[in-house]
Parts: sequence; C-alpha cells; structure tokens
Amino acid sequence: MNFQLTEEHLSVQQAARDFAQTELLPGVIERDDKQEFPYEQIKKLGELGFLGMMVDPKYGGSGMDTVSYVLAMEELSKIDASASVVVSVNNSLVCWGLETFGTEEQKQKYLVPMASGKCHGAFLLSEPEAGSDATSQRTTAEDKGDHYILNGTKNWITNGNTASYYLVIAQTYPDKGHKGINAFIVEKNWPGVTVGKKEDKMGIRGSDTHSIMFQDVKVPKENRIGEDGFGFKFAMKTLTGGRIGIAAQALGIASGAYELALKYSKERKAFGKEIMHHQAIQFKLADMATQIEAARLLIMKAAWQKDNGLDYGLTSSMAKVYASEVAMWVTTEAVQVHGGYGYVKEYHVERLMRDAKITQIYEGTSEVQRIVISREILK
Ligand code: CAA
Repeated sequence: MNFQLTEEHLSVQQAARDFAQTELLPGVIERDDKQEFPYEQIKKLGELGFLGMMVDPKYGGSGMDTVSYVLAMEELSKIDASASVVVSVNNSLVCWGLETFGTEEQKQKYLVPMASGKCHGAFLLSEPEAGSDATSQRTTAEDKGDHYILNGTKNWITNGNTASYYLVIAQTYPDKGHKGINAFIVEKNWPGVTVGKKEDKMGIRGSDTHSIMFQDVKVPKENRIGEDGFGFKFAMKTLTGGRIGIAAQALGIASGAYELALKYSKERKAFGKEIMHHQAIQFKLADMATQIEAARLLIMKAAWQKDNGLDYGLTSSMAKVYASEVAMWVTTEAVQVHGGYGYVKEYHVERLMRDAKITQIYEGTSEVQRIVISREILK
C-alpha cells in the first residue's frame, strides 16, 4: 500500500493552494455577503485547466487522475467553496458524463469548450418533487421523431444562470419508471428555456443557484445521451463520481476551518497563556485532525478505486456521508475555538460552517448515501 503522493500530485496541490491564496481569498467575504459569482476567478481556473482536470487532452482537458482532482478540490474549498462547487460540477457531473457516455459529435461540440474552460455546464436532475427520489421526474421529453419536446421545471440548479450548457434528466415514458428516463444536452439560449429566480442561500452564497423552466423546448435527437431510456443510469453513474468531488469539497471546508482554529489557538491568550495550552482546546484540535485524516483516507480510497477501474460506488457514498458530517462538526468546533470572533464574518469560520451544511444535502443527501451504503452491505 502506497500513501505517497507523486511529484505531479504535489505540484497540482501546490498550484491549487497558491491559486486559492492569491485569487480566491481576496474578496471571498464580500462575494459571500453580496452573493456575487466569482466570474474572474472561474475564468482563470478554466485557463489553468481546473475545469476539465480529468478530461483527455484531445478533448481540451488536463488529463489528470481523480487523486489530483481531490487534492485540488480540497485546496480550493479551504478558501472558497462557492468557487470550488463550479469546479466540482463541471468536472464530475458534466465533463465526466459527456466524456464517458457522449458521442464523438457531442464531445467535439460541447465537451471541448467546457473542458478547456471557455464555458461551464450544469446538471439538471432535481425538481420541486424529485430530489432524493430521483425516479419521480415530472419534466417530460416527448419523442417527436427527429427531436424531443421538453417541458418542466428543475430546482436548485448549481451554475443555473452562468452555465452555457445543461445536462437535463427528463421522463420520456412515464409508465416505464426509471427505464423511461432520458438525459439530454440542452443549450441555455435555446427558445423556451427560462432561468428562474436566484436562490438566497445559507451557504455557498457566491455560487449561482436557480430554478430552470422548459416550455416546449425543441431538443434534437442527436442531443440525447446514450440509448433510449439510459437517463436514470446516466444520472446515477455520474453522481457516483460526483460524490467524490463533494466529499473533497467537504474535506477542504473542514481542513480550512481546522487550520484557522489551530492558528488562532496559538495567538489567542486566555487565563495567562495561549489557548493551545489548555487541554479543552487541545482535545478539540486532536479530534478535528483525526476526523479530517479519516475522511481524507476514505476519499482517497474512492479516488484510487476510480483511477484503477475498480467499483467505487460504496466508497464514494461512504466518503461523502462521512466527510460532510466531519465538515459540519469541525466547522462548528472551529467557531467554538474562536469564541465571539468565530461568530463574526471577518474570521472566515462562520462562513465555512454555513458552507459545510450544503455538503450534507447536494449530490445526494446523507440519507441517500446511507440508502446506497446499506443496500450494498446487505445485498
Ligand atoms: N450506478 C449504476 N446504476 C445504478 C446506480 C449506480 N450508482 N444506482 C442505481 N442504479 C440502477 C439500478 O441498478 C437499477 O437498475 P435495474 O433496474 O436495471 O436493476 C436502477 O438504477 C434503479 O435503481 P434503484 O432501484 O436503486 O433506484 P431508486 O429509485 O431506489 O433510487 C437512490 C435509488 C439511490 C435513492 C437514487 O434515487 C438517488 O441517488 N437519489 C439521489 C439523487 C441525487 O443525488 N440528487 C442530487 C441532485 S444533483 C446535484 O445536487 C448537483 C448539484 O447541483 C451540485
């Protein structure tokens, strides 16, 4: 068993760390406050190859492995989870889905611009009444011969307004259950596509979350992904990898908060000495460090399994549920270590605590992960 990162891994990690410090940290509090999307920062991340990290260079990507992606996600998320979620959705859900299941024409037309960072995409599965219960899709895609007609509403869509292309999951044969679902590439500027209201969120406030409405949108048949009826499996397979990215985001949020708590404990004095000399603080820091390391190992195992062509479904769900719970606990404790300072925006930990919560909800709630894990261990 080799726990050593390669030179390439270390250099990706350092590049993401440098970018986070120089490009994301300035303004992160203001962007969160004003709900401003990090346009400039995402443009630069695209130019540096972070938006298509795992895509083959022949399709405009950086050709890296999943371990590199996890390392980058951790470093970016330590500072700005609103920016890192764009990196995660574009890499894991949009680019991976298209590269793995798209046709050559679809890849040339849509994957190349998104993997090379010229634009980015969004993944449209959730609906007002279909979040965890993903088979209950109400959005319809009626087969009209050489095209489909799309109608319905999608909710809580990350990158909803800033994405150029959407991967949309919709029902074609309602009586066939999950086998009647299809996945499509839809262009945001097509007639009948409307971007709904921007959500006013608790956390990741710099990210761009909207509802999207489709009214009689004409989708050419060549924009369907995979065989007729493959849409649900497409979504499930894509989300399985996506969960590694969100687990890495949770890891970054946790380790960012831990590093701030550690630093603060060496500076802040109480009862005549730095608070790091009090056992009450030492034990908190010890528990934080232990849980973060355990989450990191689980995520790295899932990434390694994916890179080696092994089944990573169980591990990615374990990594996501565990890392997101660690993120929630560690960020809450980091606020506690900071005392009153932790409760105000200037010290960053309150934002990390708010950001942590979404990692227990999107790309499958903690409850969904437990369904996946228990089914696997009980079968
Ligand atoms: N890989 C491949 N196939 C899979 C699969 C996987 N991971 N999971 C299920 N399937 C297949 C099953 O084998 C089954 O196929 P067969 O009938 O041929 O055997 C079929 O899909 C149906 O599976 P289930 O019976 O298990 O389906 P279910 O209705 O019981 O649902 C679920 C299972 C795990 C709860 C699923 O609905 C789920 O994952 N829900 C959560 C959805 C989700 O993650 N939403 C997040 C939205 S996207 C987002 O958040 C993006 C963002 O903006 C950040």
